[in-house]
Amino acid sequence: MADTARTPHPDADWWRQAVVYQIYPRSFADSDGDGIGNIAGITAKVDYLKALGADAVWLSPFYPSALADGGYDVDDYRDVDPKLGSLADFDELSTRLHAAGIRLIVDIVPNHSSNRHVWFQEALAAEPGSPARDRYIFRDGLGPDGDQPPSDWVSHFGGSAWTRVPDGQWYLHLFAPEQPDFDWSNQEVREDFRKTLRFWSDRGVDGFRVDVAHGLAKDLSEPLRSLPLIPEMELEQDGSNPLFDRDDVHTIFSEWRAVFNEYDPPRSAVAEAWVPTARRALYARPTELGQAFNFDLLREDWDAEGFRKSISENLAESAATGASSTWVLSNHDVVRHRTRYGLPQGIGTEGLDSWLLSDGQDPLPDDATGLHRATASTLLLLALPGSMYLYQGEELGLREVPDIPRDQLADPIWLRTGHKLKGRDGCRVPIPWNIDRSADGGSSFGFGSGGAHLPQPDWFGGLSVEAEEADPDSVLHLYRKALALRRELQGAETLEWVSEGATAQPGILHFRRPGGWEVATNFGTTPVPLPEGEVVVSSRPLEGDTLPGETTVWLRK
Ligand code: NOJ
Repeated sequence: MADTARTPHPDADWWRQAVVYQIYPRSFADSDGDGIGNIAGITAKVDYLKALGADAVWLSPFYPSALADGGYDVDDYRDVDPKLGSLADFDELSTRLHAAGIRLIVDIVPNHSSNRHVWFQEALAAEPGSPARDRYIFRDGLGPDGDQPPSDWVSHFGGSAWTRVPDGQWYLHLFAPEQPDFDWSNQEVREDFRKTLRFWSDRGVDGFRVDVAHGLAKDLSEPLRSLPLIPEMELEQDGSNPLFDRDDVHTIFSEWRAVFNEYDPPRSAVAEAWVPTARRALYARPTELGQAFNFDLLREDWDAEGFRKSISENLAESAATGASSTWVLSNHDVVRHRTRYGLPQGIGTEGLDSWLLSDGQDPLPDDATGLHRATASTLLLLALPGSMYLYQGEELGLREVPDIPRDQLADPIWLRTGHKLKGRDGCRVPIPWNIDRSADGGSSFGFGSGGAHLPQPDWFGGLSVEAEEADPDSVLHLYRKALALRRELQGAETLEWVSEGATAQPGILHFRRPGGWEVATNFGTTPVPLPEGEVVVSSRPLEGDTLPGETTVWLRK
């Protein structure tokens, strides 16, 4: 533990410009052949992560869970799911990562537990109005018999956000019924999460990814306010929504900051907060979490001005608060960006639900375009100040799997929406390590000898680690090269747009970083003159002294 008057740890800012590689543990590598990835499987791949050049690994939930929502339904916040290993396995992974110079971030899920959590079981067994129920959000129903939910609030995964229990009360779950929401005005809840933060910090965890950070503080004053059925991103932008992004959420994160600062270096944190850019910056204040995911580009078409605007806004917001920016193109909740960028404008942002329901057939993505734009956008973002969050498999250029047989879909979204939305399984298919399906005696391209918990398509072998290792022009080699060079590129967190010369044209983004670095992206399809400088890396081979369409180049002067 650190004293408060200490001199800053030399590594205190390691997270500000880190490349963080997200591992979805159940789909990364399976060492024991049960079809589900595990902790020891990840440990066996530490050399791969080191060779990739990741600064940190973020582990999505690995806690005991019935997997009602891919592990975001946590039974016990201070243990490892026996299906994935043990605390000893976790410690071994942590030791091996640290020995390789890679930091470890864990996912913390504070908005809700699982319905199997000991506290929720206690709440069910207890009387209405009891302290055990007060840790969650139980209410009487409406109507003469109380058989109507207490409010019209809807679950993220479809249907009412309230479920009735046998004694007639209802509990709130903003996600699946198996994910009851905590009441964060309850001091016991607050204290228990501080205990969890210390539990993992004491084990050497370097940081936390905070799930649904904008949802913890709720206005539960009676009568509960009616909420129009609108997407979360269109909610009031002033903190007045009863469920999301309320101003009092920031008190919670100030308390967490005090815990993070008990350690030396202080533990880092990043908020998952689906809120407008200006409000997002509040979560990322140095007095709170330090960073918040910037999801703007997940909703942005392949468009130079959209990218420029997002980059400028995010850098300005971060500079204003002292946070550092974050950049995200893929994660376990969204269609993989190689696929999104291969779809016509508009479909890759707004039309993905119906595209998934067509099993990826209507329309068929243009894969070459998707690949060019995906690598160009990744190389562009890797050159920006701030942290880059990569999602497992994007370094292989993996595409979405949109045609998983319907009876094998596991995402609660599929069930809860009455099969109106397919959900997120297509980006969670286990990673292909080998070219041959049966390379290790199994059938899962080297994921594990017992097959894979979600079916992998035949084309996975061609995008496997083995295939890409052998191909010097592969996406994997591009990522490795860029991540290595990025260590030289990242200095002061500043960026200057270049607005003169041949590249100051529509469709071109061109900026300078300190140390003589220049980065240009051609969003169009026609080659343009290459800016001056020594070419260090490009997302596609260059043609003479031109920058081809849909290509990013890094230059040094
Ligand atoms: C956000 C997570 O990223 C997502 O996978 C999960 O379903 C919800 N939060 C609920 O925990």
